[in-house]
Amino acid sequence: MSKDALQAVPGRQSGEGGPQDIGRDQLLESQDPYRAFARWYDRIFGPMNHGLRLLGLRLFTPKPGMTVLDVGCGTGAQLELYRRFDCKLFGIDSSQSMLAVAKSRLADAADLQLGNAVGLPYSTGKFDLVISMLSLHEMKPQVRIGAVEEMKRVLKDTGRILLIDHHPGPIQPVGGWITKAIVLIAEAAAGREHFRNYRQFMSIKGLPALAEMCSLSIIKSKVVGGGALGLLLLEKHS
Ligand SMILES: C[S@@+](CC[C@H](N)C(=O)[O-])C[C@H]1O[C@@H](n2cnc3c(N)ncnc32)[C@H](O)[C@@H]1O
Repeated sequence: MSKDALQAVPGRQSGEGGPQDIGRDQLLESQDPYRAFARWYDRIFGPMNHGLRLLGLRLFTPKPGMTVLDVGCGTGAQLELYRRFDCKLFGIDSSQSMLAVAKSRLADAADLQLGNAVGLPYSTGKFDLVISMLSLHEMKPQVRIGAVEEMKRVLKDTGRILLIDHHPGPIQPVGGWITKAIVLIAEAAAGREHFRNYRQFMSIKGLPALAEMCSLSIIKSKVVGGGALGLLLLEKHS
């Protein structure tokens, strides 16, 4: 984790706590918010998410042999899509129940770990591609920044980061209104803390602002869902 990210972590300057502590706290606090929901996740969001995943693949198509990490891999649907490219696949998620679905889906095809994005258990410069889809918006602000800094750390200098998440708009009539309404219902239904984090993510203007905060350069971007969803392909500043 870089010095800047550490400074963004409250309590860090005063010497108390740190990213690992925040990560552990979040795991304890949340007590797996996906527990009752993991089995249904793909049935509910699968079709919409699949379209986004394909767009992500168009922004960056991996080459055989590449090392690919999915941060907040959930049920493993994203990694499953990358199997056909003969990549070495890694996934990490803080929800035991989501990871259980991913393990039954992917078996030995991916190295899956239970853990927190702010303390990735991988060596520096290991990955050609780091993906995170619909995960950053639900993290607390300081965890989110720590997570992106960790993605940078484990990324090769020539590597790419692909982020897919909610986008602050402008929202286009009529498709965007419908997508936005569905998003708001889903985010509110996910619980108070989740919704608070989502709103904070939108208030800072989502992924483009986060990329700038974390000194990442945008190579390609795409806004879909009538302005409600966005994809960014990023690299480290040279
Ligand atoms: C909305 S789901 C998306 C899952 C998956 N990326 C997909 O595209 O289907 C968000 C996922 O992020 C995970 N997550 C949230 N905060 C995390 C953190 N700090 N570290 C690791 N995973 C996290 C959740 O457990 C959940 O599985």
